[in-house]
Amino acid sequence: MKKILVMGGAGYIGSHTVKHLLDNDYEVVVADNLIYGHLNAVDKRASFIHADLLDTISLQRVFQNYKIDAVVHFAAFTYVGESVENPEKYYYNNVVGTVNLLNTMKNYGVKKIVFSSTCATYGEPKYMPLDEKHSQNPINPYGRTKLMIEQIFSDYAKAYDLEYIALRYFNAAGAASDASIGEDHNPETHLIPLVLKAIKGERASIKIFGTDYDTPDGTCIRDYIHVEDLALAHRLALEKLGSYSGCINLGTGVGTSVKEIIKAAEDVSGKKCPVEYAERRAGDPARLFANNSKAKDILGWQPKYNDIKDIVQTAWNWELKKSSWI
Ligand code: UFG
Repeated sequence: MKKILVMGGAGYIGSHTVKHLLDNDYEVVVADNLIYGHLNAVDKRASFIHADLLDTISLQRVFQNYKIDAVVHFAAFTYVGESVENPEKYYYNNVVGTVNLLNTMKNYGVKKIVFSSTCATYGEPKYMPLDEKHSQNPINPYGRTKLMIEQIFSDYAKAYDLEYIALRYFNAAGAASDASIGEDHNPETHLIPLVLKAIKGERASIKIFGTDYDTPDGTCIRDYIHVEDLALAHRLALEKLGSYSGCINLGTGVGTSVKEIIKAAEDVSGKKCPVEYAERRAGDPARLFANNSKAKDILGWQPKYNDIKDIVQTAWNWELKKSSWI
């Protein structure tokens, strides 16, 4: 059985990937500093180690204690706005932390890594759908940290035979289909959980950031991909390492507007969502959706969730259950 280290496995996408790997007979070691992650999101079948990318001793302990075959690396800060206000935090944790991880892997002879990258590495889109050949000019420090890490992987691959796949996610959404785990950020900034909280009455309303975009209903379009489809892609990427290294988009290829998300949430919950119209949010392109041919061709990946209502339904099931989980 293959032993996989999941760095950041207590976070949103990490915890779903841990569950998926365990369900598919992998042995999983989770390392997380629990700054944003939740210990109770970590599947009980996994081993857990408290470790931090910037604490090299704690990283070494992981590789000393377990014979790791490959790493899946989610451990990053991901708030775009915070990255503009406090870039040091992002360059230090995301970039320096990843170099620490790679160097520790090198010292212990571990050559395989799958990494959480993002469509934010593309910057302002020049055409749509976005394919992997699109130029990469990220417009914020968060996106730049992810691009730098992709470039570091490429250099390490040439110099030290690192085998890597960087998965460029579009908008991760939804929760486990059995509602055992789901999205729980603090602070929460993502559209779907905020809409569901407004419906539940936990927030006064959802603010729609901009209604004058050049889109059919004037609101921004994004590609929402179910978190279990992301988890599946990580396993397929792990299984592909050795015969392919590079960067791959992960999206459904379908765009959904902010208003369409709100409508889906109202349909799923049977309740009205209180809405406010607000100014555009800085740095939001009108539309972003993926060309996902490479994921299909190289990984043999196919998203199981293609209807936004089904995705929102899983998020709603989780929202209803979450208060008893926390
Ligand atoms: N939105 C609102 N109101 C809100 C929150 C969001 O109208 O209260 C809108 C945004 O303007 C955007 C859409 O809903 O058009 C989705 O916003 P999210 O904040 O949920 O997601 P983003 O598309 O901004 O961010 C995602 C990832 C980031 C990544 C980025 C890449 O969460 O990590 O895609 O563009 F950097």
